[in-house]
Amino acid sequence: MPIRKARRDEWYKVRNFCTNTFLWGDYIEQVWDSWTESGSLLAYEHDKEILGICNVVIYGTESWIEGIRVKPAARRRHIGISLLYAAEQTATQKGATHGRSGIESSNMASLQMYNTAKYRTEQVWHMYTCDAQPHNIQTLVYAAPKHTWPPRYVDSWMWLIPHHNMESGNILHLQDGPTFVLAESKRFKNTLMVTIHNNVQCNNNNNTIQYISDLAYRNNQTIQIFSTTKLNHTLLHKHDSTISIVVKKFP
Ligand SMILES: CC(C)(COP(=O)(O)OP(=O)(O)OC[C@H]1O[C@@H](n2cnc3c(N)ncnc32)[C@H](O)[C@@H]1OP(=O)(O)O)[C@@H](O)C(=O)NCCC(=O)NCCS
Repeated sequence: MPIRKARRDEWYKVRNFCTNTFLWGDYIEQVWDSWTESGSLLAYEHDKEILGICNVVIYGTESWIEGIRVKPAARRRHIGISLLYAAEQTATQKGATHGRSGIESSNMASLQMYNTAKYRTEQVWHMYTCDAQPHNIQTLVYAAPKHTWPPRYVDSWMWLIPHHNMESGNILHLQDGPTFVLAESKRFKNTLMVTIHNNVQCNNNNNTIQYISDLAYRNNQTIQIFSTTKLNHTLLHKHDSTISIVVKKFP
């Protein structure tokens, strides 16, 4: 099997196909050290050349498969799907029963690859960036009661289930507003990731966005917002495409 763990000192081997992958660039360089040090990054090697990579994170019975990159000249040789299957195997061996990934809805090659590997779309999320600015919010912020918690939230692009020790104030709502989850990204520096769960008709999105904008301003953070519904606010900049969360139950 040409798939093995990637090492920290091998960044130079993959830099060319992990830097300008998308129109917005890529994030692999930012996570390379932590992925290789935790031993979660797989590399596909052929003739001493790395042709592809894939990371897998296992938490309980779930796994998050991410960062699949294949060198352009080596595409359509089943390297990507082999890495995906290898990640599934690693996850299964460590007790995971499910695998999930997030894919931009414009990324047809990746969507098709996951489709071939029998993943199904579980949810579609809208993603926004948001200006961080000072605001004078005149409404109160509450810890959200548990029954309003969203089923999932985003942290460092992983879609996690809210857990008990988050009660201390990361899941909030403003009066009449939607529930939202704050996650200060562990992987990406100074980034506040916010999942907004619009499960009821809310008339207070405006204050919520302003609250988030103000909070990030005070903490010197950039903001990424994820929402199951479309949001409209002058502070928001819409990401070009939506993000499909795909899932597979392992046999
Ligand atoms: C997506 C990506 C990882 C696929 O890697 P790959 O090694 O070329 O894909 P594979 O050869 O393993 O393809 C497996 C199956 O996926 C589908 N597929 C892959 N690329 C495709 C494309 N460009 N168009 C249509 N279907 C495609 C096909 O069904 C293919 O099977 P087939 O060739 O027998 O028809 C690769 O295109 C890539 O690195 N893209 C840039 C980074 C990226 O988008 N990563 C995923 C982020 S979520």
